[in-house]
Amino acid sequence: AENMLWGGRFTEGLDPVMEQYNTSLPYDRRFYAEDIAGSIAFARANMNNGVLTKDEFAAIEKGFAQIKEEWANNTFKVQPNDEDIHTANERRLSEVIGKEIGGKLHTGRSRNEQVVTDMRLWLREELRTLEGYLIQLIQTSVQRAEAEIEVLMPGYTHLQKAQPIRWSHWVLSHATAFTDELRRLREVVKRVNRSPLGCGALAGNPFNIDREAMAKELGFEGLLPNSLNAVGDRDFVFETLQWGSSFMLKLSRWAEDLIIYSSLEFGFVRLADAYSTGSSLMPQKKNADSLELIRGKSGRAFGHMAGLYVTIKGLPTTYNKDLQESVEPLIDHIKTVGDSMQIATGVLSTLKVSPEKMLAALTPEMLATEFADYLVRKGVPFREGHHISGRVVALAEDKNVPMDKLSVEDLKGIDPRLGDDVVQCLDYERAVELKNATGGTSKSAVREQIEKLKQQL
Ligand code: ARG
Repeated sequence: AENMLWGGRFTEGLDPVMEQYNTSLPYDRRFYAEDIAGSIAFARANMNNGVLTKDEFAAIEKGFAQIKEEWANNTFKVQPNDEDIHTANERRLSEVIGKEIGGKLHTGRSRNEQVVTDMRLWLREELRTLEGYLIQLIQTSVQRAEAEIEVLMPGYTHLQKAQPIRWSHWVLSHATAFTDELRRLREVVKRVNRSPLGCGALAGNPFNIDREAMAKELGFEGLLPNSLNAVGDRDFVFETLQWGSSFMLKLSRWAEDLIIYSSLEFGFVRLADAYSTGSSLMPQKKNADSLELIRGKSGRAFGHMAGLYVTIKGLPTTYNKDLQESVEPLIDHIKTVGDSMQIATGVLSTLKVSPEKMLAALTPEMLATEFADYLVRKGVPFREGHHISGRVVALAEDKNVPMDKLSVEDLKGIDPRLGDDVVQCLDYERAVELKNATGGTSKSAVREQIEKLKQQL
């Protein structure tokens, strides 16, 4: 351990199992560019406050340019003592530009502030990428909703046939939920994008470093105000995991709907081959694996959130090594959410809708409410209309015919206020168009939703 960057007080080496238990380099090496950018900003600030000379800073900046190249083209040689990306970069800098200057880099600085700087910079860019994927998913939804606005389908509650709706209305119901997550994401990014740099190990910086200047150079939008909090706080990770979990919950329900709709029993949609797989045993099978994976991976996303809560609850304030355990869940979570968004967009943009199957699944009983509404328009109290309409349904069941096959006499026998014109109720398109208050399933109400969604992208 005396060879480690921090080895001054150590006389014995690390247990080899401890060494690999301790190292974060296998996953935090992805932060190499952020770590270098943070180091250069720190060195520049240390030049401006007189800790480093101009020449020393120039050497550091030049050395890091080379090291960044090495990482980029995979020639960076990791050494056994490289514990994490911070120690690896610093060790290499001293090799490239010499210990005399390289040894000054870490003046006034701690890995505790470095790790959160790297994570925040990395996460900021990842979240911006996810924002782009999410916008694509919502745009794809909006395009389908516009193009297929004529298509009617059964709407369900309790997975029982309820009332006819537009297919577009179903598509937009999910797009609306996704758009809530888009707004939330834009809030989260703001809080991720604040700078811990200059907070030291816990107590702050003793060399009068210009935190504002470092933050500006790195594109941060503000400073974390308290150094103890800055090094121990993982709210930005929690918030990301909460946001991602909430999004995956919604995407999982979207996937579940489509799994049901794509089953042969429903046949409302057909998935493209690109997002389906077959069975090794049953030649006829085409399974919606893409959607099942979205549903399944949502569990993994929630797991990371729950896991991190347990890891962090009860820790003493400031940095503890437990916090290193926030990195891997975050990386995996981001990948899971980003991949799921792209798969969902792919599924939605390539699936084929079957308007005939949807129409065939509509049943006259789904218009029973229309009978009640018809009576309401004739001055009958709704509760009474509901009851009368219920008796129409019961009679059709008794006679074992669909509701639209009852004769006008049958209907009048139930209640004389069911006049000849009651047949107008037996029209799916009409039922849909009557729902024209804002948010409803009529064409104009759906178009209004489309316009509102577009404004939020
Ligand atoms: N690899 C560490 C992490 O991810 C960096 C911080 C280490 N600091 C320390 N005092 N041991 O948390």
